[in-house]
Amino acid sequence: MSEPITQADLTLLAFAREIKRKAYAPYSDFRVGAAIYADGEIFQGVNVENAAYGSCICAERAAVVAAVTAGYHDFDAIAVVGDSEAPTVPCGACRQFLAEFNPEMRVIMGGRSDAVEVTTLDALLPEAFVRGYLDQDDGDDSE
Ligand code: THU
Repeated sequence: MSEPITQADLTLLAFAREIKRKAYAPYSDFRVGAAIYADGEIFQGVNVENAAYGSCICAERAAVVAAVTAGYHDFDAIAVVGDSEAPTVPCGACRQFLAEFNPEMRVIMGGRSDAVEVTTLDALLPEAFVRGYLDQDDGDDSE
């Protein structure tokens, strides 16, 4: 699942790594930072946990929410850095959340080591359920 690493990838990764310290992770103690690139702008996010565990939000989704709130939807790449030794991969829910915007988005991953992995969302979530499937509904509820 590897793509060649570019300077732009490393820059985005640095934004994800920098924001990770702001994570609110009192339950897992697993901090994650994310940075998403949209039309020349970078938006950051962190994981925010909750005593009701199911209400936690991952860093990747927090970054998307920040970007969309600022009026940006055209995402080219996302970087994620977690507390794992190996590069942290986006969870399944985040893969689906990201696919809404660009199934071919570049995904740059880092962890506590210097290792960096770069891939595409399409490689992480093949055959994503996207808007096109809803558009195929003919509105006939009879079947
Ligand atoms: N987490 C993320 O923020 N992103 C991921 O891709 C994996 C998991 C968070 C969720 C939770 O706060 C903590 O990491 C442990 O699962």
